[in-house]
Amino acid sequence: MVDILEAKDLHFSYPDGKSVLRSINLSVKKGEFLGVLGANGSGKTTLLKILNHLLKTAKGEIYLEGKNIRSINKDMLFRKICTCFQNPDDQLFASTVGEDIAFGPVNMGLTKEEVSKRIEYALGAVSMLEFTDKPIHNLSFGEKKRICLAGVLAMGPEVMLLDEPTSSLDPMGASAIMRLLRKLNKENGITMVMSTHSVDLVPLFIDRVIILNQGRIILDGKPENVFSQAQVIREAKLRLPRIGHLFEILRKKDGFNFNSLPLTIGEAREAIKSLPTVGRAEGDIFRQGYPGTLKRKVSPTTQLTQ
Ligand SMILES: Nc1ncnc2c1ncn2[C@@H]1O[C@H](COP(=O)(O)OP(=O)(O)OP(=O)(O)O)[C@@H](O)[C@H]1O
Ligand SMILES: [Mg+2]
Repeated sequence: MVDILEAKDLHFSYPDGKSVLRSINLSVKKGEFLGVLGANGSGKTTLLKILNHLLKTAKGEIYLEGKNIRSINKDMLFRKICTCFQNPDDQLFASTVGEDIAFGPVNMGLTKEEVSKRIEYALGAVSMLEFTDKPIHNLSFGEKKRICLAGVLAMGPEVMLLDEPTSSLDPMGASAIMRLLRKLNKENGITMVMSTHSVDLVPLFIDRVIILNQGRIILDGKPENVFSQAQVIREAKLRLPRIGHLFEILRKKDGFNFNSLPLTIGEAREAIKSLPTVGRAEGDIFRQGYPGTLKRKVSPTTQLTQ
């Protein structure tokens, strides 16, 4: 895979002198789904704004498809890379949902029919089609977040920079949005760079994760490798996905020896099923994983679900 986006030695300070990013080097492959994790104030939003050239760095360069973004025409740049802001009130400005979503496509010079088609597609994708004529100021925060995402979708970008797109969404809504993003990534090849605090969703949907701590990238890799560094993760004021935490406890305190650290319910289920079976009786499952025998009684009505 080729690099679509590359950041070289980025340093950034706000005008008040606060140093926020230091020596950031990052390559994002075309078609990759990259997660950006970090505690509050670690620099996630700042980094995403810099990648879209909404903030300019004094030191360091960004390349889009090998071309320095300083030399790319702004309209072209914003068409190729679109940012979904953390705070929807920074993004939404029109009086109705439909008008807001139409803004980008209209500015791209698309026909009226194409603009309508895009509005319908984008609102349908975030399950908000019936909100087309609704005033934006009447929407809930979570609804506004979805409209922001729809606005980005309507632009048809090659790279989406998503700043906590699932925050304030209800659990089902957050999963639905993640599934949509994953589908756009895998089927339409849109490159995704997403900051998030929804750490449990990361191993389910994201290919690669970077951890930011005080403006530096301290870990970079596949979720299973990054989350195996539990101590570093905690020092950065983050946590493991809950399932990973449970298996860490089983390993450390209960003597279980799993080959890898399961991070999702599916992985946990496989790991548990792979424990040696030492006996089976109707209604009982006997597993052996450490000195002695783990005897786990499963009531006949208990269902093991995904
Ligand atoms: N306009 C600004 N002027 C001065 N300092 C700022 C400005 N915007 C952000 N900062 C500071 O820069 C640091 C990084 O902020 P940023 O918003 O990038 O963090 P973040 O990782 O996105 O945090 P969160 O998880 O809370 O969204 C913070 O300490 C913040 O106070
Ligand atoms: Mg932020």
